[in-house]
Parts: sequence; C-alpha cells; structure tokens
Amino acid sequence: MVTVSGVLVFFVVSLLIVQFLKLQWMRRRLPPGPTPYPFFGNLLQMNFRIHHENLKKMAKIYGNIFTLWVPQGPVVVLQGFQAVKEGLTVHAEDVAGRPTGGVFHCVSHGNGVMFSNGHLWKQQRRFGLATMRKMGVGKKTQEYQLQEEACHLVEYLQKTNGKPLDPTMPVVHAVANVICSVIFGHRFSRDDENFHRLIESIDGITAFGNSIAFFVYELFPWLTSHLLAAYKETKSKLDFVKALLAKEVESHKEKRKADENRDFIDYYLAEIDKTKGDAESTYDEENLIQTIFDLFIAGTETTATTLRWALLFMAIYPDIQEKVQKELDAVLGCSHVFCYEDRKKLPYTNAVVHEIQRYSNIILIALPRLSLKDTELLGYHVPKNTVILANIDSVLSDPGKWETPDQFNPGHFLDKDGNFVNREAFLPFAIGQRVCMGELLARMELFIVFSTLLQAFTFTLPEGVKEVNTKFVFGSTMKPPPYQICAIPRCSKYGDVFLLDQFLSQFLGP
Ligand code: HEM
Repeated sequence: MVTVSGVLVFFVVSLLIVQFLKLQWMRRRLPPGPTPYPFFGNLLQMNFRIHHENLKKMAKIYGNIFTLWVPQGPVVVLQGFQAVKEGLTVHAEDVAGRPTGGVFHCVSHGNGVMFSNGHLWKQQRRFGLATMRKMGVGKKTQEYQLQEEACHLVEYLQKTNGKPLDPTMPVVHAVANVICSVIFGHRFSRDDENFHRLIESIDGITAFGNSIAFFVYELFPWLTSHLLAAYKETKSKLDFVKALLAKEVESHKEKRKADENRDFIDYYLAEIDKTKGDAESTYDEENLIQTIFDLFIAGTETTATTLRWALLFMAIYPDIQEKVQKELDAVLGCSHVFCYEDRKKLPYTNAVVHEIQRYSNIILIALPRLSLKDTELLGYHVPKNTVILANIDSVLSDPGKWETPDQFNPGHFLDKDGNFVNREAFLPFAIGQRVCMGELLARMELFIVFSTLLQAFTFTLPEGVKEVNTKFVFGSTMKPPPYQICAIPRCSKYGDVFLLDQFLSQFLGP
C-alpha cells in the first residue's frame, strides 16, 4: 500500500533528481568545477566558506578559472595573476557589476558606491573620486591630515614608555580619524564614546561579511533575520552607524555656508542642490549616507589591519627594520615630517611598505563582481548575472610572479642596484573598473604613518617573547592574532635622542 510518507519521499527524491539534472545542464558551458548538488551547490564541500585554501585546491584540479555553486547560482573564480588580470580587464565593463541580493541589499538597498550598479554606481563613484581629489587626496592638503594623525599616534606610543602594548586600538583610531577628517571635516578624541561605538560597529559589520552567518542569511533570509542573534547584533550596529552618519549630515546642513565646502558631506550637499530637477541625478541624502558609510567600511579596517601587520613584521624582522631606519636617517635625518613624495628618495622603505601589503594579504578575495551581460572570460562563456570572484591571495602569492612568494622579502620590489621597482602582480586593490576607490589615500596613509612611526620608535617583542603566531585570523580582512609590542623611542645614528618633542610640537603645539 502506498503511504503518504512514501509519496512524500518519492516526491522529494524526484525533485532532487530533477534539480540535480538541471544543475548539470546549466553548468555545461560554464568553466569546469566540482559537481554541484541541489540546494547547497558546493557549499557542503567547502564547509560553508569560500576559503582561499579551498580555492587553491580546486584550482589544482580545474585550472585558473573554475565554477563553484552556491544556493543562489554559479560563482566563477579567477585564480592567479593572469586569470585575475584578464578576467577583470579584457571585458572590464561586462564584469563591473555587484551582486545586490541578500546581505548586500540589507546593507545598502542598492545605494552608495560599493554595492550599487549601473548609472547610480557610475555617478556616485565618479563624484566620490572627483571630490576626494578636490579635497586634496594625493596633494599637500591631505598630507597634512595624515601627518597630524601619524603624530597623534607617535604621541600616544611615546606615553607607553616602551612598555608592552597591543597597538590595535591606537592604530584603528588613527586610521578611522583620517576617514572622519575627510568625511566630517573633524576628528574625534580617543575618549569619545560615539567614536568607540562607531569603530566597534564597523568591526562587527565587516566581520559578519565573512562569517557562516552570512551564508545562512543568504539561504534563509527571513528565518535568519528573526532568529539569528549574530544577524540581529549586526543589524543594530548597522542602524547605529547610519544614525550617527545621518546626525552628522543634519548638523552639516545647519552649519554650512554657501560656497564654503570643507569636507565630503559639504561637497555632496552642494551637489544635491546643484542637480535638483535633473532627472538623471542620483544625488540625494540616502545615497549620501550610504556613500559615506561605504567609505568608512572600506577604508578603516583595511588600512588599520595592514598597519598592524606592519608593526608585527618589524618586530619579527629586526634586520629589515634597522635597514629602513638607516635609510630614513641617512636620507631625511631626524624629525622629518614625511610626505608621500619622499617615497621616491626612500626605495628600501617603499619596498618594505609594498612587501607588507603583499605578504599580509589582508583581503584574500576581492568583493564579488557580477557579469552585467553574457560575456566571455578566458575563453569560457559566462552568462549574465553570474557572480565572479577574483582571488587576490592567488595573485599576491603567485609562484610564477614572485621569487619567494611565501617569504617576507622586500627584495621583491627592488632591482639589483637597490632601486624601487613596481611589480605587475602587486594588485592588493584589485584591478578593472571597480578597483579600490581609496587606493591613493591608502597608499599615502601606509607610507606616511609607517615612516613616521619607524623614525620615532624601534618596535620590539616584549622581553622573553621569542616567537609570535603570525597565522592570520580569518575574517572580512585577515588580521594578525592579538599581539603585544614595545615601542622604544629611538636615538638617531648621530647619537642624538630622536627629537620627538620638537617633531610633535610642529603639529600639536608646544
Ligand atoms: C590597505 C587598504 C585597502 C585595500 C587593500 C583595499 C582593497 C580593496 C579591494 C580589493 C576592493 C574591491 C575591488 C573590486 O571589487 O574589484 C576595494 C573596493 C573599495 N574600496 Fe578599498 N582598499 C583599501 C583602502 C580603502 C580606503 C582607504 C578607502 C576609502 C577611502 C576604500 C574605498 C573603497 C571603496 C569605496 C570600494 C568599492 C569600489 C566600487 O565598488 O566601485 N578602500 N578596496
């Protein structure tokens, strides 16, 4: 006799078989990859994480372009320098989209610059870049803000008197304050409670982006948003940041004077006024808040994490640190206020900053892209609306492009005469039409803050510590495990005590 449960089992099994066959049919023209199963695709095989180690294994089997399936559909992965460069630049416009569903929709509602598409994205991105340029990014005016922030950091470290400290918070504060100066036109004091909450919230929001909860939300959005504590917590952090940004916008509206733009918000408000009545305009307060949110999210943790690796590497490789300091002393002397142009006179220091970025490899996989039409990637047909992942880790450690990919080796960026050389596989900011919008700001910040800190201090491991764990903590950016470090005020090669007070007084007053 046929029972109800028998019918149900038959129905479910038939459905799974049909779904399985449909998947096999759909994947026939896509790049190769492991067999996907109904519902989960390849998520079970990947332990619910698109992890760079899994991708490395897959690439060994399927080559430098392959397809993985997630419940929403296929994901094409680009592996190694050649595939990433070709994949993101040959049909650059076709692959300039971003997926907009699930978590991305929840964060941005398709507004702003990071998770938007089409005309809206183009307009917000073009305006964002032009405004940063107008505000002096890449010029002296911006440099002053960076020097000031580096100086506050020096002052903070000086007060530790060489005692061990975890540099995370002071570094994150300095980097977040750079973005605050750009967007709000002011910096926060270290003790400001809202500033602390802002930083903590950004940390929480970005951490969600690479968590298992992210995939669970993508699978069951309704259930997750009602039941999952991690989601609820992230949502409340999101609401806090957006409310803080909205408050800043309101206060700018009250205080601003005609024709006097001091910061990003002022410029944006002026653009809203200027384009009122223009049917093509996407400038409004919702997009303003989302764009500044995006700049915060994209620009804080990335740069701060790189600087935290920088200090750890200097303590672990004292000989490299010493060589940097020798170059700084010999070329620019004590108490020099660094500008970005100085990198041209400091090839070794510049090479070390680049190697820190290459070796720390904080992003691993760039933000997902979306094909905007049927296109071709490395000879394979890729249909419209396919997610594309560029594996940045596989570029920065491509054995065909780097002499010693698994070693910290500033020589990667130096020629035999010690001159700095750019490397084509140095793509920590990705490439193509959606390349990082803050690349110039980040490069300036890393160079100026790093040089300033190494001029002022020698970084050492606390007494008795011989070994440090350098295995990154997997998250939205790959952070170093928590560590302690000592910032020992330096003597110059001339035997003078580093003129820290004189240096600080240039910025902070006597
Ligand atoms: C070490 C520091 C940084 C690294 C390694 C980094 C890296 C990246 C990467 C890999 C992407 C994805 C690009 C793609 O989709 O192909 C990206 C996007 C982005 N970054 Fe950065 N970034 C850094 C700092 C910054 C800073 C300081 C800002 C802002 C001031 C910023 C703003 C953005 C924005 C807005 C996007 C989205 C661009 C778009 O979708 O059009 N980033 N970044």
